[in-house]
Amino acid sequence: MDHLLPKVKMLKDVSDASVLHEALTEFHQDFPSSLVKGRNVVAGTARAWGLQFGELDKILENDPVYQAAFKLVEEETLLLPPYLKNFFMILKYGIKNREGDIIEFGSYRCGTAIFLAKVARELGYTGTVYALDTFEGIPKANAAIDFHMKGDFRELSFKALGEVIRELGLTNLVLVKGLFEETLPKLLPTMKKVVLTHIDCDVDASTRYAILAIEKQMDAQGYIIVDDVAAPSCLGVMQAVEETLQKRGFHAEQAYPHFVYRVPKIF
Ligand SMILES: C[S@@+](CC[C@H](N)C(=O)[O-])C[C@H]1O[C@@H](n2cnc3c(N)ncnc32)[C@H](O)[C@@H]1O
Repeated sequence: MDHLLPKVKMLKDVSDASVLHEALTEFHQDFPSSLVKGRNVVAGTARAWGLQFGELDKILENDPVYQAAFKLVEEETLLLPPYLKNFFMILKYGIKNREGDIIEFGSYRCGTAIFLAKVARELGYTGTVYALDTFEGIPKANAAIDFHMKGDFRELSFKALGEVIRELGLTNLVLVKGLFEETLPKLLPTMKKVVLTHIDCDVDASTRYAILAIEKQMDAQGYIIVDDVAAPSCLGVMQAVEETLQKRGFHAEQAYPHFVYRVPKIF
């Protein structure tokens, strides 16, 4: 079959939502010709390039599922719309209805976690979204590499957050309060395979722990998304990724707006 990568450029001229839907569906099929070192280069390029230079950004804004989820979180998440649109595309076209759970390391006020839970439910996912955080801010940082410090992101009420999620009726979203290092080992045996991991904890040690602790739980075609790898304030995250994912044969299929890795078939 012909290579699809040159076709991605058509996203620049698409203004019809149904044409876009068909193109994204095609680009996200894991044809052998589109897989390079485990990553779907075509899908990753389509999402990244389409968001940065094409019309994708505007067209996705008119999608009713995206709109409804965005409305719930626009005040709460630290993530900007391109990040949320990318999650939306990965859920809608990348994972589709594959059985499995979603996990977030670093949830703060749960803007992204609520978005993921709402979209997942609307798209028919049966898995659970787990949001892990101390909900009391960053527990420790290494001042030699991490710009963020212990206690950053502590301004929130855990009780109020729980109430908001109950009022929204998002029974597929579970908040897991505590240090990842203490909560995850108890949680893992109760979880299904993970189709999507979002790591957004801003510092080296926490990022490193999350990557190494979740890799064996990942679905064979799962996605690991790491936020802030290229952020000026998060060199510790870059270091964690370099010394874990990259060493273990994971290759990013997308570097904008965040780094998206596919699980290589080595486990
Ligand atoms: C940038 S915030 C997360 C933002 C959130 N994903 C959003 O979209 O708004 C980073 C969070 O990571 C959490 N965190 C960092 N290291 C942690 C650890 N080892 N255990 C639990 N939480 C941690 C902090 O408490 C903080 O709330």
